[in-house]
Amino acid sequence: MQTFRDYMEAALYDPERGYYSRRIPTEDFYTAPELHPAFAGVLARKIAEKFAALSARGTPGPYSIVEMGSSSGLLAADVLKSLKRENPEWARALRYIVVERSRPRLLESVVTLSALHEGVIGYSRLEDVLPCAGVFLSNELVDALPVHLLEKRDGRMYEVYVEESGRTVLSDLSTRELAPMAEGVAPHLAEGERHAVNLEALRWLRVVEAKLKEGFLLTIDYGKRFGGAPNPPRTYHRHTIDSRLTEGKGLKDITASVDFDLLIGEGRKLGFKLHSYEPLGRFLVEGGIGDWINDDEGGGPHGREEVASYRSRAKIKTLIHPEAMGEAFKVLILEKAASA
Ligand SMILES: C[S@@+](CC[C@H](N)C(=O)[O-])C[C@H]1O[C@@H](n2cnc3c(N)ncnc32)[C@H](O)[C@@H]1O
Repeated sequence: MQTFRDYMEAALYDPERGYYSRRIPTEDFYTAPELHPAFAGVLARKIAEKFAALSARGTPGPYSIVEMGSSSGLLAADVLKSLKRENPEWARALRYIVVERSRPRLLESVVTLSALHEGVIGYSRLEDVLPCAGVFLSNELVDALPVHLLEKRDGRMYEVYVEESGRTVLSDLSTRELAPMAEGVAPHLAEGERHAVNLEALRWLRVVEAKLKEGFLLTIDYGKRFGGAPNPPRTYHRHTIDSRLTEGKGLKDITASVDFDLLIGEGRKLGFKLHSYEPLGRFLVEGGIGDWINDDEGGGPHGREEVASYRSRAKIKTLIHPEAMGEAFKVLILEKAASA
């Protein structure tokens, strides 16, 4: 019997049979960079703005972008292209560091990105990155970290474990670290309700703090400030969501929404300043995603370009619409000043 956390870790990251060792992009779900390059375009503008802020403060360059959970480098490539087009002064001196746990994806990304930019470095662990100033970036990394799972039964909080057969059973908490979270959520959960606790996200944030000398953490993910409300994990397969967590091990994505309360709280403890926390739709609209909508116009009546343009606009709408990704996803920016 293993904790649900260990089961999820193996189901997602076993080097041969884990979901991420063979995920085919867009087959089970779309991530924002897979949907439209305008997402990367707005991020590139935000990053250029943050580099300008660091420079105005006198932080010595060159600055780095450290993208964590970068997969095959699609977002990195589009950010680099946008920066080169709109902010060549920042693009020139930039170091782009990709951090990806899957070796094949990491190798693929370093090869592709090195053709676009000279200063690309790849690591499989954030722990190995040298401390630097700039922007640490992640999209849908935190939701892919393995979570402990708590369940309320007979008025008490238990942890969920998985047997060899895939059957789930309840037992005591596997680590004392979970005790304050279990106590915090207990009054908010009804009998049988579950809540995912992402201790890995807290560890990740501590490493980010150690590696970011000065600058910003910009992390995008689906989730909200849960305030103790139930947060059961779910699976994605061929764009279908279900809650059968231990069926089809390695064939389905398993994920839990990000509890931004946890990240913001831990961030503050580590000395980060909360710069902003907002829905993705607002972030993209205020960041000028409209420019990509107008950019796509063209073609005569009912011509091919018009169809392409229509599809393209529909994808941008998916990114910003409140009933699509616009509200479900959040953008958190934490700021770290240089230590005195
Ligand atoms: C849901 S995918 C998102 C990929 C990409 N960021 C995107 O938006 O298309 C999560 C990625 O994070 C990677 N990952 C998970 N844990 C990681 C870790 N601790 N360090 C680096 N990469 C990690 C996975 O291998 C996977 O490629």
